[in-house]
Amino acid sequence: MINIAIDGPAGAGKSTIAKRVAKALGILYLDTGAMYRAMALQAFRSGIDVNDAEAVCAKLDFSLIRVAYQADGMHVYLGEEDVSQAIRENHVSKGASDISKIPEVRLHLVELQRKIAAENHVVLDGRDITSYVLPRAKYKFYLDASPEVRAKRRHSELAAKGVCMDYDKLLAEIIDRDYNDSHRAFAPLTRTEDSIYIDSSDLSIDEVAALILSYVDEKVEA
Ligand code: DC
Repeated sequence: MINIAIDGPAGAGKSTIAKRVAKALGILYLDTGAMYRAMALQAFRSGIDVNDAEAVCAKLDFSLIRVAYQADGMHVYLGEEDVSQAIRENHVSKGASDISKIPEVRLHLVELQRKIAAENHVVLDGRDITSYVLPRAKYKFYLDASPEVRAKRRHSELAAKGVCMDYDKLLAEIIDRDYNDSHRAFAPLTRTEDSIYIDSSDLSIDEVAALILSYVDEKVEA
């Protein structure tokens, strides 16, 4: 199977790029962050503190998380409910980063991710794909951009949706999430030596996608 692993910090453009690359190759895209977000959403809705590992493990139903593919791509479900939109709320981002520190949560989601990767040609993006989920993937990338560029992109993205957020607050949130994601004990965000490093600060989406595709030297069998 063709597995393309892309890691990097929040807001580096991983999901946009990964979707492009998957579309160009005619293969699936797995947004692993969406799975952690769905876990955090379930905790919020159940009134469970995402930092309370004991309560998360005792009270959350991990088996409710499901990924399904439709004509427009990946959708994430909690039971029968499609939560693909609900998990994009800004407050879910920090919750996902916090709940993702809990080893039991990671182990459950990593198992699902590895199963999808074993059965499908897929582009996966996240924090630990190159280091922990699929360390032997043939194609490994680390997509980066400066915190300022990432905050600016997020600011424009929200503005386009009619949401006005303070730039400095977004920048602080990004720096905080970078710290959280790269300092947790289990499978933190790291740049592995064998990953191709791409700084997207001064590159367009098309340029980054083309660069990644230039490394993929095989065709997907129909
Ligand atoms: O990619 P994202 O911003 O949607 O991810 C939300 C959070 O989920 C992120 O801050 C950390 C966590 N995450 C993770 O720990 N491992 C992954 N492979 C993907 C996301």
